[in-house]
Amino acid sequence: MSDLMERRRELLGPNVSTFYEEPVHIVRGDGVWLWDKDGRRYLDCYNNVAHVGHCNPRVVDALCAQARTLNTHTRYLHEGILDYVERLTATFDDPLSTAIMTCTGSEANDIALRMAEAMTGKRGIIATDATYHGNTTLVSHLSRSNVPAVGFGLGAYLRHVEAPDSYRIDDPDGNRFAALVARAVEDLQASGIGVAALIVCPIFLNEGFPAQAEGWLRPAAEVVHKAGGLLICDEVQAGFGRCGSHFWGHQKQGVVPDIVTMGKPMGNGHPVAGVVTTPDIMARFRTSSRYFNTFGGNPVSCAAAMAVLDELQEKDLQAKALAIGAMAHERLSALADTYEVIGDVRQTGMVFGAEFVTDRETKQPASDYADRVVNAMRNRGILLSKLGRHKNTLKIRPPMPFGAEHLDLLIETLDDVMSQTPLVAR
Ligand SMILES: Cc1ncc(COP(=O)(O)O)c(C=O)c1O
Repeated sequence: MSDLMERRRELLGPNVSTFYEEPVHIVRGDGVWLWDKDGRRYLDCYNNVAHVGHCNPRVVDALCAQARTLNTHTRYLHEGILDYVERLTATFDDPLSTAIMTCTGSEANDIALRMAEAMTGKRGIIATDATYHGNTTLVSHLSRSNVPAVGFGLGAYLRHVEAPDSYRIDDPDGNRFAALVARAVEDLQASGIGVAALIVCPIFLNEGFPAQAEGWLRPAAEVVHKAGGLLICDEVQAGFGRCGSHFWGHQKQGVVPDIVTMGKPMGNGHPVAGVVTTPDIMARFRTSSRYFNTFGGNPVSCAAAMAVLDELQEKDLQAKALAIGAMAHERLSALADTYEVIGDVRQTGMVFGAEFVTDRETKQPASDYADRVVNAMRNRGILLSKLGRHKNTLKIRPPMPFGAEHLDLLIETLDDVMSQTPLVAR
């Protein structure tokens, strides 16, 4: 292991992150399982990229068959991208009917912001202060935790609003959040920049997936639209049925965004991402800037993405996310009866977790405890992580084939680990 770490440092440079105190060296995957180089098996409770399961045979077969036949770019005619975009956009509400395919979620968000500028003639962007939307020069500025030391001063166009937090902030209907957005809008207008867009993950997953009633985002969407700006929903994590009740997170929120971006699960690990928008916005973008992406929308990527949709539909994985997610909420709530350190249990479809606090009254984050639990779980063969502003909330976001038997193993191991993990490190 240390050899590999040393080679990484030499070849990839410093500060390249790995998960866990003892990083995992994975060599094989199948469904919800991963194996390390010594043949040890891990239950994957973290990776949403392998959406329909690691090395899903349908996706691998589709990839191989297309790779054996042809792979080019979109300057040649090919049905693959058209068949896929038709099928993809059928999952959206009107008038979201056109798409650009990219290779990463970052590129998709970059295009979305450029579309918003093209459409509004303004540059002001509003995001939450605990989010992550990607790594291009423009998009990397959206992450407050990550505002780059270099980046051509694009931060001037950004306004961050306090991220929602259903555990600590009382905002049952989204009006408080909308008021924060309104203040950011006023500031951008007063500074002469104006508002191009509000960009959010519709279930605020990186922020800690707060509990929100359906329609919670509507007041903020109204504020932005009234100011002439666009709503961009980043579905990179929330989309493709993960929410359980709806195929897209924004549908759960009761809004129709102007632009939707997606990625991670779209190609089950093959780099496929995209932007879906209205014909008007697409036309404005396409005529105001030349856009070509060598790999975006190639026939192999489209075949993989189509196989993901087939698999989701055939195995009814969205319904499964709804059912297993509800069970997970129950099981975590039962653990909260035993462990005082669990301050809050949260769940949206197949995303669930527990927020750890040192004291339920003060809600003081138990971030160090969360860290020790995550590492102990890894040592027991269960891969998960933590997130949120205080990094004290378990992030459990498994591949969609995750079933009741896997949930049993996860909860039994978590119970055992928590029973042996003191609140204060010895
Ligand atoms: C919500 C969200 N948007 C965008 C991205 C960026 O996607 P990519 O890493 O494919 O560029 C991420 C990546 O973690 C993400 O979580």
